[in-house]
Amino acid sequence: MPTLAPPPAAFAARMSRISVSATAAVVMEAERLRAAGRDLVDFGAGEPDFPTPAHIKRAAQQALDENFTRYTAAGGIAPLKDAIRQAHDRDFASGYAREEVLVTCGGKHALFNTISALVEHGDEVILPAPYWVSFHDQITYAGGIPVVVATDEAAGFTLTIDAITSRLTPRTRIILLNSPANPSGAVFSPELFRAVLEICRERGIWLLSDECYSKFVYSGQPYSAATDAAKLPGAKERLIVAGSFSKTYAMTGWRLGYALAPAVVIKQMLKLQSHSTSNATSFVQKAGIAALTGPQEPVREMLAEYSRRRELIVTGLRGIPGITCNEPAGAFYAYPNITGAMAKKGIATPLDFAGRLLQEAGVVTVPGEAFGTGAHIRFSYAASQDAIREGLKRLAAFCA
Ligand SMILES: Cc1ncc(COP(=O)(O)O)c(C=O)c1O
Repeated sequence: MPTLAPPPAAFAARMSRISVSATAAVVMEAERLRAAGRDLVDFGAGEPDFPTPAHIKRAAQQALDENFTRYTAAGGIAPLKDAIRQAHDRDFASGYAREEVLVTCGGKHALFNTISALVEHGDEVILPAPYWVSFHDQITYAGGIPVVVATDEAAGFTLTIDAITSRLTPRTRIILLNSPANPSGAVFSPELFRAVLEICRERGIWLLSDECYSKFVYSGQPYSAATDAAKLPGAKERLIVAGSFSKTYAMTGWRLGYALAPAVVIKQMLKLQSHSTSNATSFVQKAGIAALTGPQEPVREMLAEYSRRRELIVTGLRGIPGITCNEPAGAFYAYPNITGAMAKKGIATPLDFAGRLLQEAGVVTVPGEAFGTGAHIRFSYAASQDAIREGLKRLAAFCA
């Protein structure tokens, strides 16, 4: 009998450069406990707890009824591209053309396409910390090197231009900014964006601006880097904006996002997309048009509710000895510093703290290690006010 060859032991090297998203891991563990009958308060997943607005669902239903169920152009249908650029122009005076729009399967996909298209082995990407988990792994997967720049916690996790310029090297390829930021809720100033755009223009490098939370700014003044890029000659040629329907319209499961970028960049991203996912789901694209062209009241209502929850959770967290907490300026995450609480309980790391908080108190959070900082845990307050009150009560008892 011939002996069978052993299965290949090794996977592609790029697989060793990434790990399972920590937030996904938390969600899985929470699901396991819930299935076992545990009563959990869930601050883990970063997704709106609101249903998708009815008019958006109706548009998808209508598209299905009309059998709009086939492949579309890989980069998205023209009416959706137009709706995206027109809505963006209305909000941010950005003036994009149709060939500067790519419709993707979520914002994450827009980022993945961008990073895959631009980052060469050994290229450096400037990444402010705390950072959203997937930025880091998308960069390393592409062979790039995340150059992690600490933000200033005392100043609401914001960043100075000097912190960025001091880390520039000839290998710098992208400066990646996410404002409002996940997990810190920080909002970077237009001045910072303008200074970064100047640098990108001068050095021929890219600003990748993840604006998935751009509609959730508590001051009521949303911002896109594209507004300034459109005014600064040559800057728009160095800017890629990643956008998403997930958070703005409570559409996380629909998987719809977009990129706005120079046509030459869109072309490269489209090449990749045409060989991987192809188009975003056909009838979801129709829903996307309804989201952008229909009433925006649901977005304002969600922001108002997030604002009330922010007040509740930040006040509650600040009331617990050993915990300090910045007020998030945008998005729907609180990112408290738990140094004191860890010391009090003799817990060494946020990972252990979050693990024990889950096991002993049934409160789901994400440890700061996932976001590149060592003294925090993240609370997503896309949870009801009752859940927030209950979670705070449990956390206070756990810390006491
Ligand atoms: C900062 C940031 N960017 C992008 C995304 C991706 O969102 P989606 O792929 O659902 O559009 C998320 C989702 O959590 C996020 O927090």
